[in-house]
Amino acid sequence: MGYKTKEWRNSMRVTLDYNNMTEKFLGEKGFTDRQLSAYSSKANLAFQYVKENRGKDELYMGWTELPYNQKEIVDDILATARDIRKNFQYFVVLGIGGSALGPIMAFNALCHLHYNDLPKSKRKGPKFYVEDNVDPVRMRDLLDVIEPEKTCFNVVSKSGATSETMAQYLIIQDLLTKAGVNVKDNVIFTTDAKKGNLKKISDELGGIKSYVLPDGVGGRFSQLCPVGLLPAAVLGIDIKGLLAGAGYMDSICNKPSMRQNPALMSAVLQIAAMEQGKNVGVMMPYSDNLKYLADWYCQLWAESLGKNETLDGKPCNVGQTPVKSLGVTDQHSQVQLYTEGPYDKVVTLLSLKKYACEMPIPHGCENIPDVAFLGGHTMEELIQAENAATAYALTKAGRMNYTLWIPELNAFTLGQLLFLFELQTAYAGAMLNINTFNQPGVEEGKKATFALLGKAGYAEKKQELDSLPAKDVKQMI
Ligand code: PA5
Repeated sequence: MGYKTKEWRNSMRVTLDYNNMTEKFLGEKGFTDRQLSAYSSKANLAFQYVKENRGKDELYMGWTELPYNQKEIVDDILATARDIRKNFQYFVVLGIGGSALGPIMAFNALCHLHYNDLPKSKRKGPKFYVEDNVDPVRMRDLLDVIEPEKTCFNVVSKSGATSETMAQYLIIQDLLTKAGVNVKDNVIFTTDAKKGNLKKISDELGGIKSYVLPDGVGGRFSQLCPVGLLPAAVLGIDIKGLLAGAGYMDSICNKPSMRQNPALMSAVLQIAAMEQGKNVGVMMPYSDNLKYLADWYCQLWAESLGKNETLDGKPCNVGQTPVKSLGVTDQHSQVQLYTEGPYDKVVTLLSLKKYACEMPIPHGCENIPDVAFLGGHTMEELIQAENAATAYALTKAGRMNYTLWIPELNAFTLGQLLFLFELQTAYAGAMLNINTFNQPGVEEGKKATFALLGKAGYAEKKQELDSLPAKDVKQMI
């Protein structure tokens, strides 16, 4: 594998602990060994499906090969990132959905939590922003804090037809031109290799530096291709470590038995829970750094599994609503519901064995026992105790929960988590017998937006919208 030593890699292994899903810990609310074993053959079929279709572009399964087939691209990205760090003060990603959540997640996971506020000498790269909305206030406010001529804009869109990203692009193209800057000098595209509007724009402008979003990689599976790797490299994140971690998890999951394959077992646990009516999947990291991993996961799980048709064309309505939650913050907000509300949830805890620092809590307030007991501990001990306490409280209340243990947070362990969740999603989709990799449900809203803004070819949709009944004012109170 060539990334650090075998001992180090094994010491960094992310592991799945699903004890709190079982009868032994949850009593009658948990799965018996027999109930889980009943999924073995289904799980095995899902494993075989994913294995046989690995790398197939036509099935959008090219993401499985990303840990292995990008050597030249990685070298190019590292060289470009070096230039960007030298020449620009700001780096702005313009994208949405799968083109944005990955960069946001990696930035938050592996950089200082107040990165942009650090003095330049303490940052590894330019100030960093990911703009994944078209709220005009947000765009105005971004333009208040960057200097366009000192900014590298990474426009990320596979189709180049996404209204949000292209509206942002038009704004910055105009700004750069008005500032007398050649757009080519400050813009990098990440897009489809051959088709799409960014390709056309690049050709018109005489060739804009462009990275390829490979054919067989959909947006939400794209963090480990240039979509995520370029922004990460600009931030000084070890992108070889990310890919090595993904490959390491891939090798761990290369086992057909669900008892030995954490991604397969976690898919089975979720599917089995869904079949019992647990339609909400809570992703709860006990780490501020992993807060946006939960966002990234929510898109992956929701857009991949929320489908209304099986692969053989039969109607269905499947999926599980993913919910993000942050430990310990949401103990004071959501956990009341998780422990006493409906039995409709599975909670996935992301637990760090070691934080990047400890932060001792000094002794003090010795006459106030409620406070004094904290002195002499560390914040790491406190957050870990609260994490364990939440797992205990959920289990005591008969609520399904399981933990992914992360030895420490670094590029290698983050890469493992990404690949584990991607495989888990692919296995779950195969078990549900749906197309995991499309998103037809997003289209209707897109078409209505085009019609409302007068895009050519959408006159019929506009008519349909115009013919909706008038709103009843009595129902507007
Ligand atoms: O996961 C997906 O496929 C979507 O979230 C897309 O990433 C998102 O719609 C952006 O599409 P595009 O990259 O074509 O601009």
